[in-house]
Amino acid sequence: MAIKLGRPLERSRIGPASITTGPQSLQTGRAGLGDGLELPTRPRRNRRTDWARRMVREHVLTTDDLIWPLFLVDGARMRVPVSSMPGVERLSVDEAVRAAERAAKLTIPCLALFPYTDPARRDEAGSEALNADNLVCRTIRAIKKEVPQIGLLCDVALDPYTSHGHDGLLRDGVILNDETVAVLVRQALVQAEAGCDIIAPSDMMDGRVGAIRAGLDAAGFSDVQIMAYAAKYASVFYGPFRDAVGSSATLVGDKRTYQMDPANSDEALREVELDIAEGADLIMVKPGMPYLDILHRVKEAFGVPTFAYQVSGEYAMIMAAAERGWLDGDKAMMESLIAFKRAGADGVLTYFAQRIAERLKTGGA
Ligand code: PBG
Repeated sequence: MAIKLGRPLERSRIGPASITTGPQSLQTGRAGLGDGLELPTRPRRNRRTDWARRMVREHVLTTDDLIWPLFLVDGARMRVPVSSMPGVERLSVDEAVRAAERAAKLTIPCLALFPYTDPARRDEAGSEALNADNLVCRTIRAIKKEVPQIGLLCDVALDPYTSHGHDGLLRDGVILNDETVAVLVRQALVQAEAGCDIIAPSDMMDGRVGAIRAGLDAAGFSDVQIMAYAAKYASVFYGPFRDAVGSSATLVGDKRTYQMDPANSDEALREVELDIAEGADLIMVKPGMPYLDILHRVKEAFGVPTFAYQVSGEYAMIMAAAERGWLDGDKAMMESLIAFKRAGADGVLTYFAQRIAERLKTGGA
């Protein structure tokens, strides 16, 4: 058990162990037996057995920590694989209902819905976002009818609906802020009307949380929650998601005039502060693992319910390495999730949600 380092006599003269126990232990002769360092504190004692490790564990992951994002597609009995996200499929409404039933059984509290919009329905203004019968709204109604006990979260942003792939309205190469916010309020109302529980603005326009809160309240939806994508970075890790919703093909340029610069962190605190002041009930930091410092700062500074989004690119990296046999995928998945908890997350949006929940249910930590 003891690690043998150096010669015992030398250690008793110069090593830190001699400061507290040196002379005494020399008298008892223990140091002379050559059985290792005389350490008053051995952190490894608490790690020696499984029961002891469980006893001192600081953070735990449960199914209540999971929000499961689903991609949607038109049709029936459809499950369309997303090639850059092995194991993730776009689901037709009926299949999404099945997934919701499965999630409820696994006690996953909430689903996040993302539509793949038929390209024929995409236009400059993203007007399909305001269609009360669009794919997201139909899915909300179907799930609420069959699985009313599960929470539903929906993105508010125009990117799945615009021909240019941006989250807002585009004029002469500029994303218009205030005009976009007006449309987002209407999009939020359409989704709330369909039965969405949590409106999640992911667009990063200024003032959208306050405008959506006011719009919801005025329309009698004061119980509908808002989860603000408060600190959302202009990240390359969204690539596979854009494949899944079909906006990679359409996106013109990048989103750096509205999503945050990955070089900044004080700015994240200002964004979060604004969104809380405007009425956000829940705060999100996105992406996840490369931004754990932001998550930690946000949770420390504000103490509000704070969520992390383990985004598509993070999922893809773990899956790709696992497919090649370079990583144990299950272990990487579980370790990444406990890292979010340790950093301060109250919950995590993750494409691994179902797999994690299944593991947790069968007792695998
Ligand atoms: C849309 C949106 C994006 C994601 C969630 N909502 C993509 C983007 O902003 O381009 C990314 C999620 C992921 O990568 O898993 N506004």
